[in-house]
Amino acid sequence: MAHGPTLQDSNSPTVLSNDAGEAWESFIEESVYPTPGTPAKEGYRDYANPKRDTVRAFYEQNHRFQTYDFVRRKRAEYLKLNRKQMSVEQALAFLNTLVDDSDPDIELDQLQHLLQTSEAIRADGHERWFVLVGLLHDLGKVLCLFGEPQWAVVGDTFPVGCRFSDRIVYNEFFAANPDAENPWYNSETGVYERNCGLRNVRMSWGHDEYLYHVVRDYLPEPALYMIRYHSFYAWHREGEYDYLCDDHDRAMLPWVQKFNPYDLYSKCPTPPNWSELRPYYQELVAEYLPETLAF
Ligand SMILES: [Fe+2]
Ligand SMILES: [Fe+2]
Repeated sequence: MAHGPTLQDSNSPTVLSNDAGEAWESFIEESVYPTPGTPAKEGYRDYANPKRDTVRAFYEQNHRFQTYDFVRRKRAEYLKLNRKQMSVEQALAFLNTLVDDSDPDIELDQLQHLLQTSEAIRADGHERWFVLVGLLHDLGKVLCLFGEPQWAVVGDTFPVGCRFSDRIVYNEFFAANPDAENPWYNSETGVYERNCGLRNVRMSWGHDEYLYHVVRDYLPEPALYMIRYHSFYAWHREGEYDYLCDDHDRAMLPWVQKFNPYDLYSKCPTPPNWSELRPYYQELVAEYLPETLAF
């Protein structure tokens, strides 16, 4: 990788509130899926807990506005990938200008989360491309910096154009989604055919699907599944939507499941040091990716 700007000398931060996004991640990790490999914990709703209000407001918007038509429009808007050419390091620096100005409990910036995820994968001796997924997996959150609201960037993802599973977190908020009333979209299969394969299914719009399109030409298939479906909890944690899957999706599911604990539970007390790790990651990035990626 060429010696581009370092993370330290990136432009002064654009302070954007990332509160709902960060709050969502702690909520998922601490209240919904505290135990690796298990379905959602009952009682995550806890309406009596005012600390939950931000997360609830986030889900209200997400479930209301993520419609089949919204997803179609966002795909048309973003998947031309004509906004910005960035090297991975530039994208990391850009993403890191997202500053959480609201939650004192969360000290992790975006780069730290990515590095902790990738370092935990590396420490377990996994394949090099798997480590790279750890470093890259949330880069799609640059959508926030392109002006997208939190509810259209983070959160667990789900298929649109067919019935919303009642195993999706805060599924009751789908009552406000017009697709839930639309006979084209509210049957079990909706606009899809049974076992059509997830590649033919439109997912709610967010950082996962977006980043998948940015890197799809460069990484091995299991890596692409991890990136594309890492927030599809209804599938990889709850076992829902198998009727939309084909055998290829089922073969890839264990990879997505293997990635999830690193994303959720890899916080470590001693933060990885980017300047020390930078040469390793420069080499790793150069092994798989071109000099710049189109966002
Ligand atoms: Fe993510
Ligand atoms: Fe993540």
